[in-house]
Amino acid sequence: MLFHTLLLAGTASASCLHGLSKFKRQEGGEGGVPISQFGYTGLIGPLNWASLGPENEACKTGKQQSPINIDQSVSLATERPVVTIEQQPVEFENLGSTVEVIVNGTTSFAGNDFRLKQFHVHTPSEHRVGEEFFPMEAHFVHEGVTDPNQIAVISVLFQMSANETSTPFISGLRPHLAAISTPGTKTAIESGLDFASMINHVQTTELFQYTGSLTTPPCAEGLTFLVTKNPLPLDVDTFNDIKRVVKFNSRYTQNTLGEENLIGVAMVAGTEQQFTPPPVLSPGQGQEQEQEQAAGGEEQPTPSAGAGVREGEGGAAQITSGATVVISEIAGMPTSLLAVIA
Ligand SMILES: *[C@@H]1O[C@H](CO)[C@@H](O)[C@H](O)[C@H]1NC(C)=O
Ligand SMILES: *[C@@H]1O[C@H](CO)[C@@H](O)[C@H](O)[C@H]1NC(C)=O
Ligand SMILES: [Zn+2]
Repeated sequence: MLFHTLLLAGTASASCLHGLSKFKRQEGGEGGVPISQFGYTGLIGPLNWASLGPENEACKTGKQQSPINIDQSVSLATERPVVTIEQQPVEFENLGSTVEVIVNGTTSFAGNDFRLKQFHVHTPSEHRVGEEFFPMEAHFVHEGVTDPNQIAVISVLFQMSANETSTPFISGLRPHLAAISTPGTKTAIESGLDFASMINHVQTTELFQYTGSLTTPPCAEGLTFLVTKNPLPLDVDTFNDIKRVVKFNSRYTQNTLGEENLIGVAMVAGTEQQFTPPPVLSPGQGQEQEQEQAAGGEEQPTPSAGAGVREGEGGAAQITSGATVVISEIAGMPTSLLAVIA
């Protein structure tokens, strides 16, 4: 419901959802491209997005916020998307908060048909996979054909390549970056971009799937994310050229899905109402009933209890005798341990 309310909130500043028909496009400046009113630093940065407009409420209260650290609790998509992007002239725009390509396409996924509206990039990546970050992430933003309120984002992660080749749809942007180095400008790429290898990648390799939010204001929830498990290659020169124009545009990692918004957590930090993180156990602790904190070992297991618990709401129970903790990962290796605190 929150999502539908937000959709009715009217004009949204240029953002991840830029170009979606439900969010009226702002009038552009002289270059015709609207410049984002939010940013990534200080008072216009992610900690204060909710202050930029009442439609951004979910940025500080939402409990299904993106991006996240993708851990064992996020499952792989059981179906593959079918993606079509015809060769076409595209428009390349600098929104200030990102650079974006307006491109048409279709994606069918899980019985639903989506229209591709645009893709844009984040440097560094917004999602992390098993805590690992990537130098760049591209978001392919879709809206439902029958219900435009339905939004799906295919997220493609990039890794630096050792052989100076980039995925073609990204290397095709490089010659045009100079034309849009200033926020509010755009340029036409008449020859279009080559999406073949990107389409092949998202149709044939594994994708994580979860329901999250826009990673930019208004942070609306109920959005389907499909995130590539394996990154595509990105060469150093292209990365540096993109980074020079895009600059830093990565929202901080949000709390575990379903847990309190981290802004709410921060507001009570260090007070009696604070949220206390679960203890980090060393291997063998718990089951072996070892109490000492083995400092600095490489193999720090991650308790999946994850997001922390509130003092006085059972938080203390997490670290009292008899409490159980499920450990889903040790040093990046999936595992399944049920630890009992002694
Ligand atoms: C993309 O689709 C829109 C709306 O259907 C249309 O107006 C536009 O001309 C299309 N662009 C290209 C390059 O095909
Ligand atoms: C270049 O390296 C990437 C991985 O970094 C690999 O996917 C790609 O196949 C390589 N291309 C060539 C031409 O060797
Ligand atoms: Zn995005």
